[in-house]
Amino acid sequence: MSPFALTRTLPVDATAAALRADVAAGLGAAPKWLPPKWFYDARGSELFEEITRLPEYYPTRAEREILAARAPEIAAASGARTLVELGSGSSEKTRLLLDALPDLRAYVPVDVSSSALELAGQALLAERPGLTVHALVADFQQALALPRTPGPRLVVFLGGTIGNLLPAERAHFLAAVRTLLEPDDALLLGTDLVKEEATLLAAYDDAAGVTAAFNKNVLSVLNRELGADFQPADFDHVAHWDAEREWIEMRLRARSAVTAKIPALDLAVSFAAGEELRTEVSAKFRRAGVSTELAAAGLALRQWWTDGADRFALSLATPAG
Ligand code: SAH
Ligand code: TRP
Repeated sequence: MSPFALTRTLPVDATAAALRADVAAGLGAAPKWLPPKWFYDARGSELFEEITRLPEYYPTRAEREILAARAPEIAAASGARTLVELGSGSSEKTRLLLDALPDLRAYVPVDVSSSALELAGQALLAERPGLTVHALVADFQQALALPRTPGPRLVVFLGGTIGNLLPAERAHFLAAVRTLLEPDDALLLGTDLVKEEATLLAAYDDAAGVTAAFNKNVLSVLNRELGADFQPADFDHVAHWDAEREWIEMRLRARSAVTAKIPALDLAVSFAAGEELRTEVSAKFRRAGVSTELAAAGLALRQWWTDGADRFALSLATPAG
């Protein structure tokens, strides 16, 4: 195999069809909502990388701290020859694992953002000419066809991205991951933890306005892909902590009554002044909840590591039984 292959399991027009279906369903609902994966066009992936460097956005640094401390233990426990990463983005923290796995043959980053996969793949190959990188443009919420690479496999899902799925979606996702695992394989899962509200809100509403720009980028995606005429300036970025469900909700709030045309859907969408569109949730976890959700999917929690300030956790799980 050549050292870098990029495979699309989703044809470009299937992505377009999925976007149309999601936008029609979400903007037709009350309250209005959109699924978060549409944030990540090339600009969205760039803005997310900027978020990871913000002083207020602690999850990336906390997770990197755990990876740096625990990579040798993770490597010893897994003995992986293939590392599969879901929602890999820039693969930046993943280097800590790639460096720690002595028998690693193949790295399989999976992301909806082809631009992120190209950038990350090029950078990795420049650093590690011996590594086979088989990048997959795919939706990790759909059935995944992984390339045939040597086992055991370590599947990693970092960044707290699992928190961007709703509880029923998480259950479905974890059960699907379980079906990808052989008895000797393992899952490494990053989860952000419940903490003080002010810390959480600042992480999702930074002073420099990068998260606001990221949130509004989804409107630019609809304008470009569906010919819509949203004016990002007509909306305010809102981060709200739902204490009962223990998740941050990201919203776009109409500053005044606005109507946007979406020609590709032959649709006009009206917002009342102050009406909110939910663009993302980011659930925060506790150990007991993670363990229960894993168990429900047939996965046993074997290790739980947190950073020094208990902000973020990495779980290592293996097929139960
Ligand atoms: N793992 C990286 C990036 C996290 S941001 C980190 O920890 O910093 C979330 C990543 O998941 C983005 O790269 C985004 O493009 C990707 N993503 C979001 N929804 C997805 C989906 N449904 N299928 C595949 N990738 C998805
Ligand atoms: N997985 C990241 C998280 O939940 C994604 C994210 C960070 C995000 N900041 C955001 C998504 C702002 C939308 C808006 O922390």
